[in-house]
This record gives sequence, structure tokens and C-alpha cells, in this order.
Amino acid sequence: MNKSLAICPGSFDPVTLGHLDVIARASGMFEKVIVVILKNANKTYSFSPEERAQLLKKTIKDAGLNNVEVDAYDGLLADYAKKHGAKIILKGLRAMSDFEYEFQMALANKKLNPDIETVFITTAAENMYLSSSMVKQIASMDGDISGFVPSVIHKDILERLSKKKG
Ligand code: PNS
Repeated sequence: MNKSLAICPGSFDPVTLGHLDVIARASGMFEKVIVVILKNANKTYSFSPEERAQLLKKTIKDAGLNNVEVDAYDGLLADYAKKHGAKIILKGLRAMSDFEYEFQMALANKKLNPDIETVFITTAAENMYLSSSMVKQIASMDGDISGFVPSVIHKDILERLSKKKG
């Protein structure tokens, strides 16, 4: 079991500055971090897993996070962790409203794969309110998302969402 590896799972539809903050802090805490794009059965997505991976890779490269890899997996997080010999799942918690859902997932994942430990870190105060769905809503109504997403993918997100509108 690899104690120097952390997995940061999520939908990343698309990656926001809040995600980047958590990924960058994980990168400073572990030797290796895998950011894995998974499916949340309760969500419908605007970006394909491939597009989300591209946006994440661009963001991570621009941020110079050399120990972070990006992957996508169509299955259970517990199984993905097992396949990679990972013990630690690292997630950012924004507010109490995140807690119940995240707690439930952490317990389900532990039941499915008892080797897993889910570790939560608090998001930076300035990102408390930030979510991918908020970014998509603002972008689709031609609002300014520059304060919410990494600058290196700002244009990609706008182009992609306005293409959808057309
Ligand atoms: O960014 P999100 O949508 O909050 O991320 C949730 C995600 C994708 C990490 C979660 O839904 C997930 O782990 N999906 C993979 C399927 C799985 O393992 N489900 C069981 C956990 S209850």
C-alpha cells in the first residue's frame, strides 16, 4: 500500500480555481498525486471526460505541478484505488453543506475497500462558494468567469460553452 500516493477524485466539469488549490496543496503533501475524473451518477456533464482531462492537464502543467498525473476511470473509486495500490483519497471540503454527502461517500468507499482512508482538507476561504456548476451558469450567460477558473483554460471554457449555445 502506497502511503506517498494520494488520489484526488472528482467530476471536474470543468476544473475551477477551488480544485486547483486543493490539487496544488495535495502536490505539496504527497510524493505523487493522481487526479482522477470519475462519474457522479447524480450529475449530467457539459464536458466529455477527455475534454475534462485536457483542461486538467493544461492547468496542472501551467501550475508546474510535476508530481501530479491526470486520469479518467469509468467505475468505482474504491476499485480505482485498489488497482493503483492507493491508500489515501484526498478531497476538499467547502462548507458544512458538503459534509454529509462526502461523509456518506467516504464510509461507502471504506466499506468497498477497507484499505482506503479519506482525508479532507478545507478549501481556501476565497473558494468557499465556488463550484463548477456556478462557472458553467455564469459562462453560458456571458458573464466573467476569470476569477473562478485557471487563466490558462479560461478561453477554452468560454469557447466550448458558447459553441454549445450555437
Ligand atoms: O466532483 P464530484 O461530482 O463531487 O465528485 C464525486 C465523484 C465523481 C468523486 C463520486 O461520485 C465518485 O466517486 N464516483 C465514482 C463512482 C463511485 O465510486 N461511487 C460510489 C461512491 S458512493
